[in-house]
Amino acid sequence: MTTRVPRVIRLLRTDETVLAGVLADLVNGAYTFAQTEIFVRATPRTSAVMMSTLIADGGVLVAQHGEDVVGLVHVRDLEDRRGFFGMLAVAPSVRSVGVARDLLDEVEARGDARGLTAMELDLLMPDPPTAHQSRLREWYERRGYLPVASRSFSEIEPDLAAHLRHPTALIRYAKRLTPAPSPDRPLRASPAQ
Ligand SMILES: CC(C)(COP(=O)(O)OP(=O)(O)OC[C@H]1O[C@@H](n2cnc3c(N)ncnc32)[C@H](O)[C@@H]1OP(=O)(O)O)[C@@H](O)C(=O)NCCC(=O)NCCS
Repeated sequence: MTTRVPRVIRLLRTDETVLAGVLADLVNGAYTFAQTEIFVRATPRTSAVMMSTLIADGGVLVAQHGEDVVGLVHVRDLEDRRGFFGMLAVAPSVRSVGVARDLLDEVEARGDARGLTAMELDLLMPDPPTAHQSRLREWYERRGYLPVASRSFSEIEPDLAAHLRHPTALIRYAKRLTPAPSPDRPLRASPAQ
């Protein structure tokens, strides 16, 4: 696929749970390589049941080429008008042509439009870093994400951590958004009448 191949980014309707199995396979397939660099034994990132719940909750954005879903990302709200995205995945056959960039552009634009103040993500970072995780870190930092917290993965998921190849941190990255002006929250005061 070239960069000229058209793709549509759209939020799945909450009744499109029929796609759950296809999307779970896409995510698990996409994460396998990165996971085997980090874990001795890769475990599935998600399941059709979990994906069905996420779709029904209204938080799954997909990149579609014709009828085919070639990428997806899950978005949810955190406290204090912050958003969080995860499970960003692109099919290996369409990598490096900007599908993830389009998905993330849409995530941030939707966050802006909804008046969110920041968008956040978690990134696994082994010590020493793998090439894939380093590339992701550089990409997110190019886009304006900054590390705001770091915890040992062993504290968060002790069972999964038993399969780590190296000590690994889960780093929270955040980017400040610029919410669009709205009648409720003008960006600057109206001139005196
Ligand atoms: C990470 C992933 C989603 C990227 O998808 P993609 O569609 O290939 O990415 P894009 O083509 O949109 O490129 C994203 C950025 O990486 C850069 N990039 C793409 N391929 C690259 C490569 N092979 N080497 C270095 N940089 C690369 C692009 O230049 C772009 O940066 P830019 O926007 O500053 O130009 C995809 O590789 C994937 O599904 N990986 C497995 C799951 C995963 O790791 N998810 C992220 C968890 S936080």
